[in-house]
Amino acid sequence: MKTLPLASETLLRIAKKYPTPFYLYDENAIRQNARRLQAAFAWNRGYREFFSVKCNPNPALLSIFKEEGCGVDCASETELLLARACGFSGDDIMFTSNNTTAAEFRLARELDAIINLDDTGHLDFLQRVASLPERISCRYNPGIEIRYQNQCIIDFAGSKFGATKEQISAAFRSLPSQGIKTFGIHAQFGCHRREADYFGSAIRCLFSFAIELFQSSGIKVSFINFAGGLGIPYRPGEDAADIAAVSAAIQAAYDEIIVPSALHPLALFSELGLYMTGPYGYFVSSVLHIKETDKQFAGLDASTNAFLSPLRYNDYHHISVPGKEAQPFNQRYDITGALCENRDRFAVDRELPTLVTGDILVFHDAGAYGYSHSTTFNGKLRPAELLLTAEGSVKTIRRAETPQDYFATLSFDGR
Ligand SMILES: Cc1ncc(COP(=O)(O)O)c(C=O)c1O
Repeated sequence: MKTLPLASETLLRIAKKYPTPFYLYDENAIRQNARRLQAAFAWNRGYREFFSVKCNPNPALLSIFKEEGCGVDCASETELLLARACGFSGDDIMFTSNNTTAAEFRLARELDAIINLDDTGHLDFLQRVASLPERISCRYNPGIEIRYQNQCIIDFAGSKFGATKEQISAAFRSLPSQGIKTFGIHAQFGCHRREADYFGSAIRCLFSFAIELFQSSGIKVSFINFAGGLGIPYRPGEDAADIAAVSAAIQAAYDEIIVPSALHPLALFSELGLYMTGPYGYFVSSVLHIKETDKQFAGLDASTNAFLSPLRYNDYHHISVPGKEAQPFNQRYDITGALCENRDRFAVDRELPTLVTGDILVFHDAGAYGYSHSTTFNGKLRPAELLLTAEGSVKTIRRAETPQDYFATLSFDGR
């Protein structure tokens, strides 16, 4: 079953005090999960998680991850500025960008972030607009399909991300003479799978590449970043990834490929996003109107601009209706927003108890790519973000937008 981090009455009290819609994040659960992850990878001495800022760029959450010993994965100038504002610098920051601007490279160098190049061709650009660092990483594109259970999970052929084996090998060979001393490689094989054996087999591709790189260029990488893509269970009854088993499967591949090689010991890095905050965030909204045609619609006080994943990815997000848990789930609703867009539905044909205006709906698994994907389409504004603190209090960590925020970037004088 999907559970809420608070008793129904407490949630209803919070929804009375803080106007809906809002996101609510559970600090305690986020911390416990980060600790479980780190404990699972304790076998690897240099292991570090770089929380992927793109999935939830709120400073309150970044600070929690900092306290838990994580670094951050940034992909843009603004994310780097956020990281700096939260006290991250140097080895705390993995800068995994692509199609990177001069300003981004300059700031990354200023912060002495670990630069993870998407293209070896960017080395000249980086040197020209900033300077070469002493350590560098490069994103690897193996150019093949990654298959699992007879299914293509990711097809790297034609992907816009990463450089080929030959490109990385040629570039790395020339770098020691330019003062670069430390090397790493990166690839994202995860694709929201939760199976331990998937990660165990996919990571072999990275480990084998590290060995080939050593053989072809003499470069010993000292870290391997297996990035993000660990999935979460969205539907009741689905199992969460067994992080200890995922780590054990990766360790088995490490023991087989890396330990007997000259590369041992090397550090493993991850830049997980969804797994770190997804299950520990909730989107809370109220029923505004009930409408009936040939279907029943429950229109909320929020639209999918504020919580895009049901519309954009067709993701299932479980819904709890606090206070109505014991009622029969004998009604079918499409849960809609107010956008001038027929696909603006949080759920379709969802079985729920009878809903009335004022009921609170809590969407589960909204802690990642919720706020960060939101838009202001139709002039519908972004909601607030609240933190359920480890002490049990509720804190506003981002206020809701106002029309003034929407107008702030506009010119009204026609010039
Ligand atoms: C380079 C990179 N790293 C990390 C992540 C985080 O992935 P996830 O949230 O699936 O763990 C992403 C997601 O897009 C990514 O592109």
